[in-house]
Amino acid sequence: MREAYRASILHCLSDPGASGDTAAVEFFDDGLLLVENGVVAEVGNANTLLAQCGDTKVTDFRDKIIVPGFIDCHVHFPQLDIIASYGTQLLDWLNRYAFPVEAKFADLAYAQELASIFLDELLQNGTTTALVFGTVHAHSADALFEAAQLRGMRVVAGKVLMDRMCPEELRDDAETAYRDSKALIERWHGQDRLGYAITPRFALTSSDAQLAAAGRLASEYPDVWIHTHLSENHDEVAAVADLFPDSRSYLDVYDQSGLLRERAVFAHCLHLDNEDRECMAAKGGAAAFCPTSNLFLGSGLFDLQAMRSRNIRCGLGSDVGGGTSLSMLRTASEAYKVLQLQNQSLPPARVLYLATLGAAEALYLDDKVGNFARGMEADFVVLDPAGSSISARRTAAATSIEETLFALTMLGDERHIAATYVAGERHIAKSRH
Ligand code: GUN
Ligand code: ZN
Repeated sequence: MREAYRASILHCLSDPGASGDTAAVEFFDDGLLLVENGVVAEVGNANTLLAQCGDTKVTDFRDKIIVPGFIDCHVHFPQLDIIASYGTQLLDWLNRYAFPVEAKFADLAYAQELASIFLDELLQNGTTTALVFGTVHAHSADALFEAAQLRGMRVVAGKVLMDRMCPEELRDDAETAYRDSKALIERWHGQDRLGYAITPRFALTSSDAQLAAAGRLASEYPDVWIHTHLSENHDEVAAVADLFPDSRSYLDVYDQSGLLRERAVFAHCLHLDNEDRECMAAKGGAAAFCPTSNLFLGSGLFDLQAMRSRNIRCGLGSDVGGGTSLSMLRTASEAYKVLQLQNQSLPPARVLYLATLGAAEALYLDDKVGNFARGMEADFVVLDPAGSSISARRTAAATSIEETLFALTMLGDERHIAATYVAGERHIAKSRH
């Protein structure tokens, strides 16, 4: 099965950096993306490639821009219904909003309903790959994986581990955390496009014994992911320092438990010192930059320059429900502003990188998704620069692809996603809202 898509096509070959190096980006003004059996066969100029297309069906998106499917490096599917909850910072927000809604996931039918709605929302926003938190209930991970499998999506997820400092009904223990996670790994990891992430919520909600159990699992399964939160909020960082007096830093708590290695993704990473960053870089840990959440919860400003200058892998995360949008366009817009506050540049090419190839590198999935190199899985988004009347006016006046892309990322939302393709298949919502 071979199909072709004609549009402006844009993808990253590497990190364009803070100067927006144009050599890091490939752009075809009138381009063609050739897809065969769900993977990229070729990308290039339409004029050249159409000659060798024969009777291949060509879908015409000529006034649109095709980019790789967006990748969300950190999101909580159970928190969809508490998005935009008023007035608190992290630790109060968890107690007041996050824990109560997560308790509802004891009900399998509710978990299944939310999983379906959540994944359709991701796809409607152009997100085709995500690293996702479940709840403490093992069946929350089952529900998400089943819904992702039905949609053919690349999803990495896990059940949450937490055995203290949270409501009784949301606790597991070191032993059940280990046993349930292991069973889920055996059931789901590597099935179709699914992967498992060992998911201790954060250092405050896991005992030493549970962190050690998570570390044991991580060493037994070196190719599964590790997904947790790190250094988000000042009160949280202080509480971790009190609870773990023998650790040099918050990151060191995870490192000592065997949870800092390749395929470990840490959400936030706001209040690190340079020793932490050197350690993360050396061990291959990655960071999820979650600007809407960091602003909404008043947590702090992500220092992209300090991370990328050490080659720490970084991708964007929505962190819904702490974050305020599943849209990677809206997330990118806030990322730009967070960096502006620190006098750092975020050129449009780098925005694209953080939402696609950079995020794929953070998840160690850049051999599968993130750009249109031959053989990559054909996940892509068709962006509509005229998705709203204001963006239509603004992009009509643009004189370069950089200008169009910048305006789209500042003004964009789901109205600017004309279509989303997953492994070469156009997405049609499967849940009923
Ligand atoms: N830290 C521990 N749990 C959470 C969570 O659910 N959301 C955010 N933003 N931070 C956390
Ligand atoms: Zn989070």
